[in-house]
Amino acid sequence: MTGATPIGIHDLRVATGAHVVELSELADTQGIDPNKFLVGLGQQQFSMPAHDEDIVTMAAAATAPLIEKHGLDGIRTIFFATESGVDQSKSAGAFLHALLGLPTGIRVVELKQACYGATAGLQAAIGLIARDPRERVLVIASDVARYDLDSAGEPTQGAGAVAMLISADPALIEIEAPAGIHTTDIDDFWRPNDRSTALVDGKLSIQAYLASLTGSFDDYRARGGAEADTLASVLMHQPFTKMAAKGIKALSAHTGVELPDITPTMEYNRRMGNSYTASIFVALVSLLDADAELAGRRIGFYSYGSGSIGEFFSGIVQPGYRELRAAEDVPAMLAAREPLAIADYRELHETTEFASDRDIVLPVTTSAPFRLAGVTGGARDYTATAV
Ligand code: HMG
Repeated sequence: MTGATPIGIHDLRVATGAHVVELSELADTQGIDPNKFLVGLGQQQFSMPAHDEDIVTMAAAATAPLIEKHGLDGIRTIFFATESGVDQSKSAGAFLHALLGLPTGIRVVELKQACYGATAGLQAAIGLIARDPRERVLVIASDVARYDLDSAGEPTQGAGAVAMLISADPALIEIEAPAGIHTTDIDDFWRPNDRSTALVDGKLSIQAYLASLTGSFDDYRARGGAEADTLASVLMHQPFTKMAAKGIKALSAHTGVELPDITPTMEYNRRMGNSYTASIFVALVSLLDADAELAGRRIGFYSYGSGSIGEFFSGIVQPGYRELRAAEDVPAMLAAREPLAIADYRELHETTEFASDRDIVLPVTTSAPFRLAGVTGGARDYTATAV
């Protein structure tokens, strides 16, 4: 860091949807070789929210244990990043604020730029804390990736949330100051206001992701970013894990440095699917849980949001990170998801959007700690799930 105070990710937690869909089963029902999904895309499963779950309930499930552990002292801001917002005006964070019973002295804002939004939140949080190191900021990434049934994007769906507590003197990752940015206006993936599923030009999106990777890395280096051969690993945005594999190969070729094997960053995304804004931080958790030798090492982050913004930055893993991570068991969370048969998945896919012109009371499906109870007068009603 330039300046005195190290700032970064103090702790973080993950949540996902109640259901899981096996890609081998999806391939079978579509008459496709399962290896296209398992090997060609590098994906095994995807998470899907229950009927009474959404980005707010997943975000609350990820945030509640963070607050329980670290308290609310100094938290004056929540940045809620999502591509799959539930309201055109009200921040998803405002719903979360009530659901978690938070005090009034917290500003809550929603950030949107496809999968990139949480990185913007992280950088903005660092700016606030640099001004007043007593402040801490919650940056929450929560998304449901939805493409049309029977489309090429369908096997790259997913759902998940990561809540991060950003602070001075962080216990997990110090974020270094240099950041490289690469912004272009491109229609590679987008979701018009009247659609609940994304539109995408798949091949263009892959090219745009890779162009933005090398472009943002070059900007990172030009701004004093570290040399590629100092990176112990690189976290890539993972719309599907093969994309990250293509990315590390391209960055190795671009820099002339044989970058490390990033397979340990992929385990959770391979099973959760694309969680858009959360995906790069799910990759971070996957790496920290898989590798015990990272203390003091530098890791690269490549955040990409279609449309498009790419940002490359880096962080230093702090000593003691393994003890912090021991508080969460992501494999157990993934194993607890309820499998959905393909017919049931297809039915749920078609019924997750709620019209605003009629009231709905939703039956209890999820066993997650928070749920969507219904819609009244067009406004969503959330509640803690009774145990
Ligand atoms: P597709 O066109 O159906 O697939 O859709 P394909 O024909 O390109 O095949 C995919 C891979 O499987 C290929 O590998 C095939 O060779 C291989 P590659 O050549 O690319 O290395 N393959 C097989 N491998 C083993 N055994 C087999 C077999 N058959 C084929 N039998 C596509 C693929 C990714 C385009 C589609 O799923 C899609 O449109 N997904 C959504 C878009 C996306 O994820 N884009 C990624 C970059 S943009 C991004 O990351 C941003 C995003 O997260 C949104 C945001 O920012 O908010 C999406």
